[in-house]
Amino acid sequence: MNVQATHTADATTVEEGLAIQEEQAKFDSVAATEVAMQNTLLTPRFYTTDFDELDAIDVSSVREDWDKLIDQMVSDPNKGHFKKNEDWDHVDWDGMDPELKKEFIDFLISSCTAEFSGCVLYKEMKRRGSNSDITQLFQLMARDEARHAGFINDALREAGVAVNLGFLTQKKKYTYFRPKFIYYATYLSEKIGYARYITIFRHLEANPEHRFHPIFKWFEEWCNDEFSHGEAFALLMKTDPKLTSGINVWWIKFFLTAVYATMYVRDHQRTAFHKALGVDPDWYAHEVFTKTSTLSKQIFPITLDIDHPRWQKNLVRLHKANVAIAEGKKAGGLGGRLKAMGGSARAALAFVSLYTIPSKEHQRPVSTRLEPAY
Ligand SMILES: [Fe+2]
Ligand SMILES: [Fe+2]
Repeated sequence: MNVQATHTADATTVEEGLAIQEEQAKFDSVAATEVAMQNTLLTPRFYTTDFDELDAIDVSSVREDWDKLIDQMVSDPNKGHFKKNEDWDHVDWDGMDPELKKEFIDFLISSCTAEFSGCVLYKEMKRRGSNSDITQLFQLMARDEARHAGFINDALREAGVAVNLGFLTQKKKYTYFRPKFIYYATYLSEKIGYARYITIFRHLEANPEHRFHPIFKWFEEWCNDEFSHGEAFALLMKTDPKLTSGINVWWIKFFLTAVYATMYVRDHQRTAFHKALGVDPDWYAHEVFTKTSTLSKQIFPITLDIDHPRWQKNLVRLHKANVAIAEGKKAGGLGGRLKAMGGSARAALAFVSLYTIPSKEHQRPVSTRLEPAY
């Protein structure tokens, strides 16, 4: 008898995972879905690309590493992991400090949207492709992201909110990115995702009194999934050396700067959340950037100079400009519009200042393959 999974954690394919979520969507909340629908510079987006170009990739030049990675993903060490069990402590949502609750729910919705964004893109690639190496990889990655998004939605449901993922798939705007931009952006978001999750996990391992929600206990296996996804994109990029040389190095620098700066600004909007975790967001950002830079040396020929005097100074300027934009928009009227415009101009200048810091070059290893080491 073919037993159907009833929880996204047990789903073996992305289709099964999504069907389970479709079933639960009846209970999902309008407000959370609205937040997930937002498209600003700082909110997670949905992407589409030239799937035919992606499908044409030939992985034979990285075959040995490729097969090892795929075998590991097929063995599926995290099947059944992403669901509540006896380690899931009771969460006192009503007793939670209101500011923390607001920021934490915002964090969960944004994480859920980001996980689901990966799921939708990977699933579409699997559906459109005919290259068995590529479709197999994307099927496996979509499977993982569906579980991750489903698990965050479980946590949100306890707070009385959850994102309607089926609705998002159909209604959220899709941003087109050329395949090479998808590689840079997705590779980085997988690796920075790993670095973010493992840094919080290790911090809470050492300081369990700050673990104000049980979901953080799941972060170790979680980040290992993201690590593998990042490995896959490193191998995809390695099949074509042009992707990481010449003019493309400027694009790599652009994506590194944009991804790091976005993380910094977004995290600095969540003061109560980081206070509850016992984490200084400046320390956290530096830690995550350092780890991500070390990892990205496997494929990128440059890293950003995050110890340059202009780096931290302009991140702070960017954050302040962003606060001014938000305040201006909230205030409305001519005064508000002017304030927001001034903020946008200062944000653009700060970004240019970050982007023009000379980057650090280095030799790349022969094999890209890495194991999670943090
Ligand atoms: Fe994920
Ligand atoms: Fe991922």
